[in-house]
Amino acid sequence: MERRNNFLSYGQQWISDEDIEQVILTLKSPFLTQGPKIKEFEDRVAEYVGAKYAVAFSNGTAALHGACFAAGIGTGDEIITTPITFAATSNAVLYCGGTPIFADIDEETYNIDAKEIKKNITPKTKAIIPVDFTGQPADMDQIMEIAKENNLIVIEDGAHSLGATYKGRKVGTLADMTMFSFHPVKPVTSAEGGMIVTDSYEYYEKLKLFRSHGITNDHLTSDEEPWYYEMVELGYNYRMTDLQASLGVSQLKRLDFFIERRREIAEIYTNQLRNISAITCPTQLEDTDSGWHLYSIQLDLGKLRLSRRDVFNQLRKLNIGVHVHYIPVYQHPYYQKLGYEKGLCPVAEKWYERALTLPIFPKMTQKDVDDVITGLKYILS
Ligand SMILES: Cc1ncc(COP(=O)(O)O)c(C=O)c1O
Repeated sequence: MERRNNFLSYGQQWISDEDIEQVILTLKSPFLTQGPKIKEFEDRVAEYVGAKYAVAFSNGTAALHGACFAAGIGTGDEIITTPITFAATSNAVLYCGGTPIFADIDEETYNIDAKEIKKNITPKTKAIIPVDFTGQPADMDQIMEIAKENNLIVIEDGAHSLGATYKGRKVGTLADMTMFSFHPVKPVTSAEGGMIVTDSYEYYEKLKLFRSHGITNDHLTSDEEPWYYEMVELGYNYRMTDLQASLGVSQLKRLDFFIERRREIAEIYTNQLRNISAITCPTQLEDTDSGWHLYSIQLDLGKLRLSRRDVFNQLRKLNIGVHVHYIPVYQHPYYQKLGYEKGLCPVAEKWYERALTLPIFPKMTQKDVDDVITGLKYILS
């Protein structure tokens, strides 16, 4: 099979002329940061998902850090999360002094397994951070039920799932706080960017403080000097710029179209690959509508004369940018140094050994999709 002329990445943004015009308009406006575009982006995302409040951050990791702060996570608190995620999810817990507890994943959805969450609850448990891996919402009804029974806060990592639905409800309305990321490979992009949506006014206020140095002038009386402001918490500069926000506002207009295209590509992959015995295609649960941020297959290595590394390398040689998402977080050297040991989540570890991410993004052409399918069939034949 012939090598593609250009490298097909696993994910990529789609920037329109309108997006570019909107960023230029902001560049020409008085505000590059702390201007009106931030609030506009927040309002649009809140409205889209059906949440009361939204707070934009410089990136999704900062947003998660903000959510952990707002939830009051601190030293001695245990936070249950999944190992099959980007390290930022559990890193946010560490930033606040909390301890991430990794609960194993469900064999079918690859999302955190509610039964495993229950097993890991102790008197120190403060919160749960489920991740909507690949864009498929975690089992949020069960998770919220467990949280209610045990008085826990739920922060949903929806970095992959803006626009996805769970039992007819949009991600962003299911947890106490939900994080979205606007990194270029994500459902829509603001270059870098993140947001927390919530229905809680209390969290909203804390998130705003945290994003901007912990400084406020909201509660000052008229007796105060006019320039006076107060730093009341140890916050950060995690602000999004108006340039990012104007790109985000413009991109959001095409979110539904982007997701539709992702769903079409996922359907083609599943139809074309499900009869190959060495491949297990991802399962889409009946009551969820995934945003298909990633298309992650499992290779049945027992049926192949090749290793996963061979399959990966041969596809890369064809210029097909397959990837692997994710190495179980606690297997990273930093986490190993903290004392997490291999073997902690056997389902996740077995899953990881067999995982392969295929390219999926709205701008892919039919030829791009065909190249991936033909390449895989050729290598596995
Ligand atoms: C599951 C998950 N959580 C958190 C993040 C962090 O988001 P960001 O890259 O916007 O900081 C990412 C992004 O890569 C992610 O995939």
